[in-house]
Amino acid sequence: MDKQTLLVTGGAGYIGSHTVVELLGAGHDVVILDNFSNSSPKVVDRIEEIAGRRPQLVEGDAGDRSTLQQLLSRHRIDATIHFAGYKAVGESVAKPLAYYGNNVGGTVVLLECLEEAGARRFVFSSSATVYGDPASVPIREDFPTGPTNPYGRTKWYIEHMLNDLAVASPDWSIGILRYFNPVGAHVSGRIGENPRGIPNNLMPFVTQVAVGKRPQLSVFGGDYPTPDGTGVRDYIHVVDLALGHLAALEKVARGKGAWTINLGTGIGYSVLDIVKAFEKASGRPIPYQIVDRRPGDVAQCYADPSLAAQELGWRATRDLQTMCADSWRWQEGNPEGY
Ligand code: WQD
Repeated sequence: MDKQTLLVTGGAGYIGSHTVVELLGAGHDVVILDNFSNSSPKVVDRIEEIAGRRPQLVEGDAGDRSTLQQLLSRHRIDATIHFAGYKAVGESVAKPLAYYGNNVGGTVVLLECLEEAGARRFVFSSSATVYGDPASVPIREDFPTGPTNPYGRTKWYIEHMLNDLAVASPDWSIGILRYFNPVGAHVSGRIGENPRGIPNNLMPFVTQVAVGKRPQLSVFGGDYPTPDGTGVRDYIHVVDLALGHLAALEKVARGKGAWTINLGTGIGYSVLDIVKAFEKASGRPIPYQIVDRRPGDVAQCYADPSLAAQELGWRATRDLQTMCADSWRWQEGNPEGY
């Protein structure tokens, strides 16, 4: 694919920053639009340190019309990768209007501004959470969808919006990527997952136990119908995920219309598998206690990754030990985050 100028909303976030590093490394120019509501401006310096090139930065909200119109008048954007959005499942239950306003409402404004500017190539950060409680695993893209929380519904509604847009305006080219469970960090240890407060997700909680920031891990449920009774998920290295976006941009540049693809490894690991792998990778004990199930959790969720291989020519290659070792290097080198 020729050199592109790419707009990356939420580009200072966990997945966004790792994707920007790979985009710069592939020779593209990048404009990050981020309001730093869940990230730090320091990430841009770390991206430059790793990539040897600095992305352009616009500080602002990805759903703010005047910010977007000004940005699109200054930059000729070839394609957009849209990461920006609120992403905490529990918080979405408590604050549904904030999630619908920011995630869905903000994306409507973004798409209207892109349409106006004629920038009609779009890659959307969706989530396996749209599948809800799958009837079986591994999960294919044609499985029924039915998210069980407001956060997941915002992703689901945006997916429907994008498919409707592609029907109404056939000159749009849209890739919808359903992520499974992103973990790990860039091998340099200079960027990584940087949750504020108590981590909702498993891996950052485990890394904080390993570094002594948390006394022990609470394992949410030991009585699921899984090999060891704990929840099974498809953990995918964030750099593999980032590279999946480069492949998605190639496909978006080639055609028209909207398509949906899972980005996962196809391998399911339990919570206790992660604990054991992390102890091996870090050399640190991870004390844990099995407690009640977390409301809304499903027993198993992992991808059938064959469509990504077929349509994107992409597969995840980094194994669980690498995911854990890279997570640990980031945590050990940045105990207070950025
Ligand atoms: C993984 C497993 C928990 C924490 C969520 C969102 C999804 C995506 C990824 C945004 C489960 C168990 C966890 C802990 C635990 N986010 N667990 N103790 O719930 O699969 O997916 O994050 O896109 O949309 O739904 O990820 O990391 O929270 O949980 O036992 O302290 O670890 O029960 O089995 P999840 P998770």
